[in-house]
Amino acid sequence: MSKNYYITTPIYYPSAKPHMGHAYSSIVADFFARFKRIDGYNVFYLTGTDEHGLKIQKAAEGKNQDPLDFCNEISKTFKDLSETLNLSNTDFIRTTEKRHHKSVQNLWNILEKKGEIYLSKYSGWYSISDEAFYLEDDIEEKNGSKVAKLSGSSVEWIEEESYFFKLSKWEDKLLELYENNKKFILPKSRKNEVVSFVKSGLKDLSVSRKSFSWGIKVPTNNDHVIYVWLDALTNYMSALNYPDTKNSLYKNFWPADLHLIGKDILRFHAVYWPAFLLAADLPLPKRIYGHGWILSGDEKMSKSKGNILDPLEIINEYGLDPLRYYLLKEVSFGNDGNISKDKLISCINSDLANNFGNLCQRVLTFTEKNLSLTVPNKVNFLDDDLNILNNFSNNYDKLMDYIDNQNINSYMNFIVDQMFLANKYFNDQEPWKKKNDFKRLNTIIYTSLELIRKIAILLYPVIPYSSLKVLNIFNINEKKIKVDTIKNNQYLENGMKINKINILFNKVE
Ligand code: MSP
Repeated sequence: MSKNYYITTPIYYPSAKPHMGHAYSSIVADFFARFKRIDGYNVFYLTGTDEHGLKIQKAAEGKNQDPLDFCNEISKTFKDLSETLNLSNTDFIRTTEKRHHKSVQNLWNILEKKGEIYLSKYSGWYSISDEAFYLEDDIEEKNGSKVAKLSGSSVEWIEEESYFFKLSKWEDKLLELYENNKKFILPKSRKNEVVSFVKSGLKDLSVSRKSFSWGIKVPTNNDHVIYVWLDALTNYMSALNYPDTKNSLYKNFWPADLHLIGKDILRFHAVYWPAFLLAADLPLPKRIYGHGWILSGDEKMSKSKGNILDPLEIINEYGLDPLRYYLLKEVSFGNDGNISKDKLISCINSDLANNFGNLCQRVLTFTEKNLSLTVPNKVNFLDDDLNILNNFSNNYDKLMDYIDNQNINSYMNFIVDQMFLANKYFNDQEPWKKKNDFKRLNTIIYTSLELIRKIAILLYPVIPYSSLKVLNIFNINEKKIKVDTIKNNQYLENGMKINKINILFNKVE
C-alpha cells in the first residue's frame, strides 16, 4: 500500500510582503515534507495566500488599488519566496482562485442544508488585523483605545445582519475529540489552552459580513460575503479538488496529517475548523501543531509592529542553508525564539563549517591522496567502527518517533552529536598513521565515508542544497535518497569512484 502524507502551512495574508515569521513556518513544513519523502511517503505539501476579507480590502484601498491587482502583486512575492527558500511544495493555493470559490460555496451549502447556519444579527467587537470577533472579556483599554487582550490589535464595534454557525452545539464533541485524541493539538501546553477555552463555553460564530464585498459570496444570499476564516480554512480541501471527493487527490490526502501553524491562529484551527468539518460530516485533520513566534526583541515579529526581519536580506548575506539550519536547530520548536545574527554566525562557523564541512574535506582529501578517490575494498569493521556506525540503526526508531511527534530539536541534536562523534572518530583513529596497515586504513576511510553519507541523508530535510552536494560524492541524487539506508553500514559499493566537492560552507569572519 502506498503511504501518503499531507502537510500544510497557514495561507498567508498578502497584506504586505513576507517576513521571517512566514519563512519560518514554511521552512519547518518543508523539513517535514522532505523527511517524509525520503521515508517513502507520497507527500502533498501545500502553502499559499489568503486573499479575502476587510484587512486585504483596506490594504488595497490604502494603495488605491483594485483588491485583486493588489493581491496578484503581493501573492507573487510569497510564491517567489517559496522558491528562494527551496520549498518543495506541491501546490500554492490562492483563495481568489475559482477552484477555491467552488469548494467554499459547496461547504457553505452543506452547512446551511444541514441547519448548521442561521441568519441573525451580530453586534460586538471585531479586529480587522486578526479578522476575529471578540467578546467583552477579551477586550482591554490601552492608551485610550480598545484592543484585543490576546493579540493587542485594535478592535471596532460592529452591528450588522449576519449568518451564524451553531458553534455552541459542538462543545461536547470537541472536548471529546481532544480527550480521545491526545495528540490532536500539539504542543501539549497549547492543547490545554484550547481545552480551557472550549470548556469556558462556546458562542455561535458569525460567519458572514454584509458591510463590505471583498470575499466569496454566500451562495444563497448575495448581500453577504462568507467570513474570511471559513473561507480560508477550506483551502486545505480546495487544493485536493474538494467537493469532488472521488478524485485521487482528495482520496489520497484528506484528512490532512498535519496543519502546521503559528500559535496565534490555533483557535481557528483547533476549534472552528474541526467544528465546521464535524457539522458537515467530513473527516477531521489528524494533527494541529501550533508553533511559537519568531521574536524581534521581546515582541512577535509582525508587519503591524514594524519590527520585521527580511529573510531575503539574511539569505543574501549568509546563504539559504545556514538560515534553514539555524531556524530548525536554534529555535526551540513550539516555543518563541529570538533571531540573532551572532547565533546564526556561530551555527555557520561551528556546526556547518568546522564540524560537518571540515569532516567532509578532511576525509575526501585523504581518500584522494591515498585511495585515488575510490571507496575502499577489504573492509573489516572493529568495535570502534561499529560502535559509531550502529548509532544510526540503534536510534532509527527514535528518529522516526521524533518526526512523528514534531520533535525537531531532538532530531537536530542527534545530528549534531553524530557530526561531533564522526570528527572525533577520524581524529582518534589517525588513518594517516596507518599507511603500513592498509586493511585498517581502508576500514577507517570506509567507515568515515559511511558516516558522511548517513549524516548527509539526515541533513537533507534541513539543508537540501548542501546535503545533495555531499551525496553527489557518492552519486546519490535526490530520487535515490532513502532514509532507511542509514541503517545499512555497507551501503557504499567497494571500489566505486567518488566525486570531489568544493568547500561546503564558508566561515564567516
Ligand atoms: N491568513 C491567516 C491564516 C489562514 S490559514 C487557513 C493568517 N495569515 S498571516 O499572514 O497572518 O500568517 C500567520 C502565520 O504566519 C502564523 O500562524 C505563523 O505560521 C506565521 N507567522 C507570522 N508571523 C510569525 C512570527 N513572528 N513568528 C513565527 N511565525 C509567524 O493568519
